[in-house]
Amino acid sequence: MKLKQKILMDFLANPSQTLSGQQLCEKYAVSRTAVWKAIQSLKQDGYEIEATPHAGYHFIKDIDALDAARIQYYIPDVPVIVFDSIDSTNNYAKRLLMEKEVQEGTMIVANQQTAGRGRQGHSFYSPADTGLYLSIILRPYALTQNVLKITLAAAVATCEAIEEISSVSCQIKWVNDLFVGHQKVCGILTEATANFEMQQIESIIVGIGINCKTMTFPEEITHIAGSLNVDTIDRNHLSALIWQHLMKWIQHLNDKKLMDAYRSRSLLIGKTITYTWQNETRTGIAIDINEDGQLVVQTKDQIQILHSGEVSIQKW
Ligand code: BTN
Repeated sequence: MKLKQKILMDFLANPSQTLSGQQLCEKYAVSRTAVWKAIQSLKQDGYEIEATPHAGYHFIKDIDALDAARIQYYIPDVPVIVFDSIDSTNNYAKRLLMEKEVQEGTMIVANQQTAGRGRQGHSFYSPADTGLYLSIILRPYALTQNVLKITLAAAVATCEAIEEISSVSCQIKWVNDLFVGHQKVCGILTEATANFEMQQIESIIVGIGINCKTMTFPEEITHIAGSLNVDTIDRNHLSALIWQHLMKWIQHLNDKKLMDAYRSRSLLIGKTITYTWQNETRTGIAIDINEDGQLVVQTKDQIQILHSGEVSIQKW
């Protein structure tokens, strides 16, 4: 790790403290000039750092910029790749997997996506500075696990991370859209890459897009899209929390607690919904989400179990 990153970690560990130049020199066995250069480089990155004679360096204002070192402060040893702008973090993850061996848990994070993708071939609006777009690569688990459960775990993990860092509570619209009130604030796209020769899934890419403070949306989604609507949210910390909660649930995919956590945030249970069944639009009441993550619907004459697909709320 570079000296500048080590000093940044020191500031983040205790943002109110003043770091003495002399102590930093001794701690890292470097010259005063090296410390000064590292501080200048942090300033160039946008951090506001004040130097007080005889006291040391003081962190004035935290910047909102996404920064791999700041994410890794919370999840050391996890490979994190940050882009200011990229076509799609899921696409990048796929390219990376084709190029080389990728460590389990590698996370790709972007400030903006120019070709963000949603489910069913839709695009995902991903403007700069106001959202968080990330992909987490899962490898060995992918071979043995139920992909639907991984998607459900990602939805729960994202809710938990948002709740931990803000006062916002989200609800989950089965399968994996997060809502605040009547507005969708987060979408999740889980994709698998396969090894055709071995005829098996090789890795799973969990892509998560959150509208943190996006206020304007393209016309076609204004009726449904919304944002967490938080003025300040540390997206670096939020990314790390999502990673931590997802990795926690990945170890317990078949634990009853996962489905309990999912059901407790369900937007659909108890509501009248419409869905497509064998090319026909049907209506029913969502009565449960079973232990396999399937939606249980009571229609006027039967109980139907939905494995996947889009459902709409008919009556809120
Ligand atoms: C949906 O709502 O249909 C799913 C949206 C998923 C968006 C995320 S943003 C990060 C990752 N990269 C993408 O291109 N898509 C996912």
